[in-house]
Amino acid sequence: MINFFIKTFGCQANVADSQDLAKLLTEIGAQEVESENSADLIIINTCAIRELAEQKLYSYIGRLSKIKKIRPYLKVGVIGCVASYRKQELYSRFDHVSFVYGARDELQTLKAYLINLCNELMTTKQFFEQHPENVFGQGQDRDVKKIVETKKLLTIPNLFSKASKINSLSYKPQELVRSMINIMTGCNKYCSYCIVPFTRGRETSFAMSKILDQVKKDIENGAKEITLLGQNVNSYIDPESNSRFPELLQKVAEIDGDFWVRFMSPHPQDMTRDLFEVMAQHGNKLCNYLHFPMQSGSNRILQLMNRNYTAEEYLEKIGWLRSLMPHATISTDIIVGFPGETEKDYLATREMLDKIKFDFVFSFIYSKRKYTKAFEMDDQNTHEIKVQRLNDLQARQVEIALELNSQKIGKNLKVLVEKRLTDDKLLARTEGSIRVLVSSTENKVNSFLNVEITDASVTSLVGKF
Ligand code: SAH
Ligand code: SF4
Ligand code: F3S
Repeated sequence: MINFFIKTFGCQANVADSQDLAKLLTEIGAQEVESENSADLIIINTCAIRELAEQKLYSYIGRLSKIKKIRPYLKVGVIGCVASYRKQELYSRFDHVSFVYGARDELQTLKAYLINLCNELMTTKQFFEQHPENVFGQGQDRDVKKIVETKKLLTIPNLFSKASKINSLSYKPQELVRSMINIMTGCNKYCSYCIVPFTRGRETSFAMSKILDQVKKDIENGAKEITLLGQNVNSYIDPESNSRFPELLQKVAEIDGDFWVRFMSPHPQDMTRDLFEVMAQHGNKLCNYLHFPMQSGSNRILQLMNRNYTAEEYLEKIGWLRSLMPHATISTDIIVGFPGETEKDYLATREMLDKIKFDFVFSFIYSKRKYTKAFEMDDQNTHEIKVQRLNDLQARQVEIALELNSQKIGKNLKVLVEKRLTDDKLLARTEGSIRVLVSSTENKVNSFLNVEITDASVTSLVGKF
């Protein structure tokens, strides 16, 4: 049996792709394991969004060479967004990388390749287990040979214990409670800071009929939460019927069952009022939640970012949502320190936090990315100024989050239990993806509960039922 391990970096689109691959590998008889230490095949799904993400990746791949030395038939593959544009570099920098497939159009080819690879691996693994001395020919260091001789080679002590804790299994057929479905991939927007159009290519939407079949199948298999994903989820257009995203969302909501539906990330430019109307009409299934990336509150910066909307238009769309769904949870993405951002521009962003009061904000310091338009832009701000702005923004958001969370004390909310944290504590989430700690010794994991909120902090709520 082939043991595989998938390490996933990056966004939920990558998580969905990893789940898809894990499913395929499981179907052909391989088994997903919880640690790199016991894997025969390691697939690394990569993210290129910020420079730091790439640096982390390289140090991770480097560490895998230790396992390859002990188990030479191990195959290590790199896929995803970094693989799309650094193929040669990955091969030349890491001897132990056996295959590299980009996120763009190589996913289908990758699947066919993996099926062959697993067959091949079965043979080499068996051969190795029966004749370890032959596989370790000349050139292997003596320590490794000694391990082989004492036949301890198949379990490697804790090289990656920390990493494996973070990366839980991608695919659990029996309990795929949170299903993530890529409904489209790629992006045509070309925001001037963003590498995604270069790593994932042009926008491609998948057929609505296939998506609906997948949702039905997942619900039958016990899914309680469906997340529809796309780099630009609301520019979805069904290649068969030309239906747009609100229609797809409505059709998903009309499927029988007790489940929640989320989606991300919509682009403000493509946001139409009818999407919020569908959400309001199907409030029992479509989550009362919107992740709505704003990036900046300054019109000058929004224009330089090529976002194609103004702060006023963004506010207007938030207004549509609030008039139709007054209690919706709203989150956003913000970049500080974009080239040329002045203190005044930054303050315009901060002001939007006060006007809108997001429940949570994902904020990032601008990171210069190859191929993008902003790569060439003059950046006068020092790193210190950028860090200062990020800290200031996050400090304000902490106050806002505490204020909003405290307002929920005394309310009754429906939550979905995600996992058990301690003997008497469960971790659950609201429709708006806010963490709720629920005291209970009962086995309620993967169930919906109605809880009364009794306390609140910046990052979570406390509930009882
Ligand atoms: N398609 C989504 C964003 C996907 S990337 C959208 O348009 O909203 C997730 C977030 O990463 C972005 O919203 C942005 O805030 C951030 N990001 C993207 N490129 C970045 C860069 N070069 N530097 C810093 N943050 C970046
Ligand atoms: Fe990147 Fe902009 Fe496309 Fe989002 S919309 S993936 S930020 S280019
Ligand atoms: Fe990263 Fe690619 Fe997603 S660059 S954020 S994994 S689309």
